[in-house]
Amino acid sequence: MVRNRTSARRDVARFDRWAASYDRSFLQQRVFEPVHQALGLALEPLDALRVLDVGCGTGILTRALARRSARAVGVDPAPRMVAKARENRADVPASYVVAAAESLPFADSSFGAATASFTVHHWRDADRGIAELARVLSPGGRLAIADIDLPSPARWLLRLVGSPHAGWSRRELADLLYRSGFSRVRATTRGPLGPRLAIVFADR
Ligand SMILES: C[S@@+](CC[C@H](N)C(=O)[O-])C[C@H]1O[C@@H](n2cnc3c(N)ncnc32)[C@H](O)[C@@H]1O
Repeated sequence: MVRNRTSARRDVARFDRWAASYDRSFLQQRVFEPVHQALGLALEPLDALRVLDVGCGTGILTRALARRSARAVGVDPAPRMVAKARENRADVPASYVVAAAESLPFADSSFGAATASFTVHHWRDADRGIAELARVLSPGGRLAIADIDLPSPARWLLRLVGSPHAGWSRRELADLLYRSGFSRVRATTRGPLGPRLAIVFADR
């Protein structure tokens, strides 16, 4: 599951350009925010935990997690997304780092929970990113992922043309997680996109 380096770089550059208006996107209200709620609720209770939000964008989910936890850390390789997240900083224990999922700048077992919302399909190397999440989560740590799950013909067609939006099926996401040592992988189809959306939970 390794993507072409140029295409992955292009994705990050596109998010950098989108950063200024990202929060006003219709996708935010219609799709992302309800999904953020589902991810946050599923990870509760977070009280004393440090939570990592990978591919945090402008930090909307990171801030929501910070309100319910000891500290939330957002990481994203698009510097302007991270700049916007820092600018949006509310009075919550949240901080942000410019970094990619494939190379997380954190010690082993340093988080109790983690999220990846609509970002895994943009990663250059999903296996490596999930392995990094397994490394930085402490044993028993909880992970919640939301991603696109298109019907197979659409997914294969988009893969043929090299689009990141091909996403992963639930089965592929589950395989990815088991390969990195996660357990109790479970999925739900509840959410604003119905079965087109994979919301997957797993334990470290
Ligand atoms: C559709 S946005 C989702 C942002 C946020 N999670 C949300 O739900 O609003 C995808 C994000 O993934 C980030 N991204 C792209 N490649 C990444 C990588 N290799 N590791 C982590 N994040 C990445 C992009 O920069 C972008 O901010």
